[in-house]
Amino acid sequence: MSPPPFTVVIGAGPSGLVACKTLGESGIPYQCFEAGSRVGGQWVLGNSSGTSSAYRSLRANTHTGMCRFQDFGWPEGSPAFPGHEEMAAWFGSYADHFGLRPHIRFDARVVRAERREGQGGWRLALASGERVDCDALVVAVGNLWSPRWPELSGALDGPVIHARDYMDPKDPVDCTGKRVCVVGLGNTACELAVELSQPGAAREVLLSCRSGQRFLPRLVAPVPHPSDPLTGPLRWLPGPARRALFRAVFPRMIDKLNASLPRPEDVGLPPPPKDPFEKRFVVNDHVLDRLRDGQIRAKPGLRRLCGSKVEFADGSREEVDVLVAATGYRLSLPFFAEGLLGGDGEDLDLYRGVMHPRFHDLFVIGVTKAICSIWPRSEQQMRFVAPLLRGDYRLPSQRAIDRATWPVLGVPYGNCQFYTHDLRRELARGRRRAAWRSRARTAPGNGRP
Ligand SMILES: Cc1cc2nc3c(=O)[nH]c(=O)nc-3n(C[C@H](O)[C@H](O)[C@H](O)COP(=O)(O)OP(=O)(O)OC[C@H]3O[C@@H](n4cnc5c(N)ncnc54)[C@H](O)[C@@H]3O)c2cc1C
Ligand SMILES: NC(=O)c1ccc[n+]([C@@H]2O[C@H](COP(=O)([O-])OP(=O)(O)OC[C@H]3O[C@@H](n4cnc5c(N)ncnc54)[C@H](OP(=O)(O)O)[C@@H]3O)[C@@H](O)[C@H]2O)c1
Repeated sequence: MSPPPFTVVIGAGPSGLVACKTLGESGIPYQCFEAGSRVGGQWVLGNSSGTSSAYRSLRANTHTGMCRFQDFGWPEGSPAFPGHEEMAAWFGSYADHFGLRPHIRFDARVVRAERREGQGGWRLALASGERVDCDALVVAVGNLWSPRWPELSGALDGPVIHARDYMDPKDPVDCTGKRVCVVGLGNTACELAVELSQPGAAREVLLSCRSGQRFLPRLVAPVPHPSDPLTGPLRWLPGPARRALFRAVFPRMIDKLNASLPRPEDVGLPPPPKDPFEKRFVVNDHVLDRLRDGQIRAKPGLRRLCGSKVEFADGSREEVDVLVAATGYRLSLPFFAEGLLGGDGEDLDLYRGVMHPRFHDLFVIGVTKAICSIWPRSEQQMRFVAPLLRGDYRLPSQRAIDRATWPVLGVPYGNCQFYTHDLRRELARGRRRAAWRSRARTAPGNGRP
């Protein structure tokens, strides 16, 4: 049996940490390169890697029962929705508990990843100029740090910033007593609008959105963890039937849960999308109340910036001193040459949402549109990747790989538990394929002249 491949992990955020831990316990030699000086990725406020979009008031919107690892929970007495400092500290204790730090090189940014000619594997270049060769590559750099800007025509007299750089109502722009327009209606836009509309912060807050959203309060609900096995009938239903059932039942559960919140249409927002799986829910306890009470005013999408005013899609104009674009993030993997991975650069086609369909030694974890916390899902992805790298799981034919390949960000929101159930089933099939192959190889007569 060939030795396990030397594997590089890029990034020591939550996904990179669980990649390191899983590779290590599977006996796969690895090295992790982290551009910043700490573990924890997004949760390290002002991460020196420049890739954290966290702001001072940020708290998780996934509760600790959901955003734990399968084998590493939150300490007794932790808040249900930890703040960024608690999150970063917890990821630090995970790294310590599993002895990961000696395998992580900090302040080591990967600037290029190229295919090794002829032999497979990857050649990496670090910002320091150093080159590193590896047999397999796990990319865990997140996808929520490269700003997506709205189309802005015209110019505003005052500052225009992206939420990526927002820290608090005074940093990087002092919004005290100012008229601020927040663009977007995702979790970030809603949290920033709420914070800016607090007494003593902005004078007026406008929330400009081009389409509607569904809202949920913060919930400490018994949401299943991605590692939980599916219960009875769900386990045996074929995938499409299971998903159809989920699509029928889940929206009703959500409607029940948010029955206490004002309806978005009643507070000036566009109606929510008909398909509840088209967009991520906004988890916010305050924004609808603030809209109802007039502390935040809803406006349609932006049309143009006109000096001291902003014009909206309905032709109305408002005086605005500061514009905050909370319009989300783009996937960015700048170390790969353009076109190498296929696609348009905005999305990525991956086999079972994790492996490149042509480069079977390239894995991207933590990039998803899923209704769950990210790192427990990355943990389950690595439980699939490690046996593959060790040769305990054998891939199916290329045609089967292509059939089970999808654009990770282009699919509707999915259920994490179903995803990991399917991964585990495929893992079992691939283990059987590997066992058959090894039996066929060692059968009498095989390999003999
Ligand atoms: C404001 C905000 C709030 C969020 N809240 C939640 C939440 O409550 N619950 C939840 O589950 N998810 C939440 N998320 C999603 C978030 O992406 C995950 O929490 C989590 O951080 C994803 O982990 P990751 O390791 O995949 O990516 P990241 O956390 O982004 O970590 C990526 C790591 O890769 C490093 N890196 C990047 N490029 C390079 C390079 N070229 N070379 C070397 N290292 C590199 C970075 O420095 C970083 O340490 C939130 C995201 C944002 C932006
Ligand atoms: N407390 C927390 O845990 C917390 C806080 C903040 C963020 N997050 C997470 O961080 C991630 C990113 O959230 P996000 O809110 O920053 O981004 P997002 O979910 O992608 O939302 C972006 C918003 O901007 C709008 N938008 C995008 N492009 C636009 C354009 N060109 N013009 C006008 N509007 C545009 C989108 O509208 P359309 O729908 O019309 O495209 C959407 O309302 C999510 O996973 C979120 O859950 C978590």
